[in-house]
Amino acid sequence: MSGHGEAIPMIARRSSGLRGEAHVPGDKSISHRSLILGAMAVGETRVTGLLEGQDVLDTASAMRAFGADVEKRGETWHVQGVGVGGFCEPGQVIDCGNSGTGVRLVMGAMATTAITATFTGDASLNKRPMARVTDPLALFGAQAHGRSGGRLPMTVIGARDPLPVRYATPVPSAQVKSAVLLAGLNAPGETVVIEREATRDHTERMLTGFGAVIETQDRAEGRVIVLHGQPELSPQTIVVPRDPSSAAFPVCAAIITEGSDVVVPNIGLNPTRAGLFFTLRDMGADLTFENMREEGGEPVADLRAKFSPDLVGIEVPPERAASMIDEYPVLSVVAAFARGTTHMPGVRELRVKESDRIDAMARGLRANGVDVDEGEDWWTVYGRGHGNVRGGAVTVSHLDHRIAMSFLVLGLATQDPVRVDDGGPIATSFPTFEPLMTALGADIARET
Ligand code: S3P
Repeated sequence: MSGHGEAIPMIARRSSGLRGEAHVPGDKSISHRSLILGAMAVGETRVTGLLEGQDVLDTASAMRAFGADVEKRGETWHVQGVGVGGFCEPGQVIDCGNSGTGVRLVMGAMATTAITATFTGDASLNKRPMARVTDPLALFGAQAHGRSGGRLPMTVIGARDPLPVRYATPVPSAQVKSAVLLAGLNAPGETVVIEREATRDHTERMLTGFGAVIETQDRAEGRVIVLHGQPELSPQTIVVPRDPSSAAFPVCAAIITEGSDVVVPNIGLNPTRAGLFFTLRDMGADLTFENMREEGGEPVADLRAKFSPDLVGIEVPPERAASMIDEYPVLSVVAAFARGTTHMPGVRELRVKESDRIDAMARGLRANGVDVDEGEDWWTVYGRGHGNVRGGAVTVSHLDHRIAMSFLVLGLATQDPVRVDDGGPIATSFPTFEPLMTALGADIARET
């Protein structure tokens, strides 16, 4: 089942010798935030390298519905911001498609302005929990009325006289943290977010860039972020770095595919995002960071991944989970080709992503001959070693781009081909996945 139209069945067959440079698209997290913060600044923000995946295009439409002018001219996206507190009431329902980041951040951004908006999404997004965001937004004075269990479709009534908030996030989630910070922009005084485990910090970094006063301190209780409310945000020129979460797919494909040597240039190694790459190295992967440098205050490198026949299973440190939360599905594929078990604890959040990612991967891996055990917040993959993974099954993507791409990577090194029922969701985050992978030499195709 595809989110937008007909299902696109796909197949991956055993390949060898992936070679070349893989230029992956712009970072999804930074792309959403560029549009939202651009819309909340006074004047024109210019963005290049924006990810033009469906998730981000849906956020662009949402910003237009709230009154910002967003358009692409040449290679540059131009966002005419309306200022903090300047959103107008949308005349239509805001459809965020498949994107949890889009809907949660936009809800935060509008929740402290006295307007009402109704949000919906596709079948995947409409199942995901929203109370994690609407609970703290209620502390500012906003009201939310959704379906039972706090699901979309949902109407949010923004606070008329917002109060600043002090909020300790109960789950490690950059989306929750960001929704609270974006809401705090239009509240007077200091809004404080405390997170026990540090999650991706793009909102904090970008708010500083846009001229907000925001301070972060690591204390005994966790990471404490203090935002001074009601700033005037100044428009920025943003060059979106390439997405480490998309880089994960060609990197992992090269590691498990015989004779491969692939370079993935210009990948941000922000410590809140780069956990997968360190985990792969811990498993014995031949992965190097070349040409290390700093760009826009972030560490950046060219990743070079080579076929790694002697991978070993490991215990993935739970404290690393937040920095690689989107990469567990493709890590579980690499783990299938390792010798020994890979145990992944502390990952309850995987159950509430675009799909229940533990369940989706466990079912598909088992169908392809790999044993997997799971509990509520952990899973274990029993590696079979290189050359010993059978394949041959049709896997189900459950409207989840990362599940679809992970199983297509699996099929590059299994004995028999691996099929995916619907590759359509890949367009939400990595619209160039198929041509990029085939240009490297991967045998991935659509089935008619
Ligand atoms: C994101 C945060 C993560 C991640 C998502 C993008 C963001 O979600 O899974 O793909 O841009 O803030 P959570 O904050 O729910 O962990």
